[in-house]
Amino acid sequence: MNTLFSSDVYLNAIETHGYTVIQNALVTELVNDLITDCHRINPHFSLAGIGRLNDLQIDKTIRKDKTFWFDGSSQAQLTYQAIMESIKTTLNRNLFIGLFDYECHYAKYTQGDFYKKHIDAFKGRSNRVFTTVLYLNTPKQGGELVIYKPKSKEVEIVIKPTAGTLVMFESERFAHEVLPAVDERYSIAGWFRKNASISGIIDPPR
Ligand code: OGA
Ligand code: MN
Repeated sequence: MNTLFSSDVYLNAIETHGYTVIQNALVTELVNDLITDCHRINPHFSLAGIGRLNDLQIDKTIRKDKTFWFDGSSQAQLTYQAIMESIKTTLNRNLFIGLFDYECHYAKYTQGDFYKKHIDAFKGRSNRVFTTVLYLNTPKQGGELVIYKPKSKEVEIVIKPTAGTLVMFESERFAHEVLPAVDERYSIAGWFRKNASISGIIDPPR
């Protein structure tokens, strides 16, 4: 097994709080393979956009990280996706939701990069249900993830990125931000999605 946590832990936390923070979620070897993969594809990271893929905008006042969407080009990516698929099945069985897919990208923040307060999904406009973030390294300083209380300006929790820590939260409920990085910071941000098809239009299109 590549995971080091039991589903009871995150199911319970998600049901009561809407989010969970799991330290040492994956075996060290897999975290190492993922960071090695990041270094391999380093030249292919590109400035992240905001919004859906078809109306992608790049606005450096909102976010400055660079991303690389998984393309299945390494065993590490395939293994990570398989783990997320099994979490998806567990969430569907226990929370009675119809998550149908998981999408994710590597993200790289270098000194001064940030992602201002935002919500990953807007009710009725998106099909992102749960956000996941896995940290691949442990910056000495900076790049903290700040999660705000739902519908409030108060901070719920500040998470210091640590290699192997997995964060999951309800995408529609929690505004969050990434404070400016000081040291390089590598992570995988991902989203469990439900089918948003309306009036016979299949989303995503086949
Ligand atoms: C995102 C995001 C948080 C983090 O990519 O949408 O909010 O801690 N990432 O990297
Ligand atoms: Mn986000």
